[in-house]
Amino acid sequence: MQEGLAAWVTEYGRPEDVIRLADLPRTAPGPGMIEIAVEQAAINPSDLIPVTGAYSNRTTLPFVPGFEGVGTVSRIGSGVKTLKPGDRVLPLGASGLWQAFLLRPVEWCFAIPEDLSNEQAATSYINPMTTLQLLERLREHFGNGFGMDGRKIAITAAGSAIGRMLLKTLTAEGAQITAIVRSAETAESLRAFAGIDIITTGARPPGGDVSLDAVIDAVGGDTGEKLLRHNVMPGGLFLQYGALSGIPIPPSAMAARPDVRFSYLWLRSFVHAADRATLEAALRTCFDGSRSGALRSDIAATYPLSRLGNALAHQKAKDRRGKILIDPRC
Ligand SMILES: NC(=O)c1ccc[n+]([C@@H]2O[C@H](COP(=O)([O-])OP(=O)(O)OC[C@H]3O[C@@H](n4cnc5c(N)ncnc54)[C@H](OP(=O)(O)O)[C@@H]3O)[C@@H](O)[C@H]2O)c1
Repeated sequence: MQEGLAAWVTEYGRPEDVIRLADLPRTAPGPGMIEIAVEQAAINPSDLIPVTGAYSNRTTLPFVPGFEGVGTVSRIGSGVKTLKPGDRVLPLGASGLWQAFLLRPVEWCFAIPEDLSNEQAATSYINPMTTLQLLERLREHFGNGFGMDGRKIAITAAGSAIGRMLLKTLTAEGAQITAIVRSAETAESLRAFAGIDIITTGARPPGGDVSLDAVIDAVGGDTGEKLLRHNVMPGGLFLQYGALSGIPIPPSAMAARPDVRFSYLWLRSFVHAADRATLEAALRTCFDGSRSGALRSDIAATYPLSRLGNALAHQKAKDRRGKILIDPRC
């Protein structure tokens, strides 16, 4: 039987300890399914969180991580009419991209425009679509049609892929941005964004003098809590989409600010509730954003899947600038 290399998780724990390499049997696609020969997959924080067991109520062991990547259709099952072997696709909605051959229902696979490189395509879903959803929540809050001009908005983990996409889009729309980062090095890397105020939490915590219409927070912990308690103006929005510190905003902080609208965003909820046409439209906007650069990620390095340990170590490195990609063909 043919086999394909895969990253394989059989127990929860620290990603570097429990994600192992395995040769998995390659099975023929059943009715309505396609087999994808994966060419590039991204490493995102949201791939690693389930490995720790944080979502054990909706994660079944064993599993292959990786929610984002691109490949070529290698085989199709009966009844598949919309894709054919050789088509390049982006599969959405489930993990499994960190392996050489992936089986997915055809309705969850989307064709990639020819002009996009594999690198662009492999990073054109999770972070761009999350950014678009965050922007939509902001627009809903401010009132569609009122725009971002002059809005005072803080972005935590501003050096992350999503942080940079938000910076590009919101500064272009005239928002007054406070970018919050944890290191002087990351602050330095954001100097190219003209007109933003940069706060480095290690050196200077956000002061009570900063008044904000909205906070877009991926950190939680002390930084997120202080921003919620002291900096959001009455009637403002606190939009949380991550907890990179590992510490959620405590309910006591939310209770202390009943005058602030607190909102969580999960891309997963949007993707699983959306119909195919909605997802196609969202992807078209993501692809356009990749072309223009507004929703494009920098790439720090690409590793063969066989060197997954090195890829995971680079992912954790403090001086990482950009996304790590995995090539499961080698
Ligand atoms: N809610 C959703 O549906 C959804 C969807 C996608 C992503 N996310 C979340 O969005 C966040 C960003 O994802 P991404 O792919 O854009 O990240 P990324 O490009 O991998 O960047 C993450 C950056 O965050 C900073 N960081 C890490 N730990 C931190 C901490 N404890 N305090 C402050 N900053 C910290 C680091 O920057 P420096 O080293 O430069 O400080 C790190 O490089 C993650 O939390 C992810 O889980 C949520």
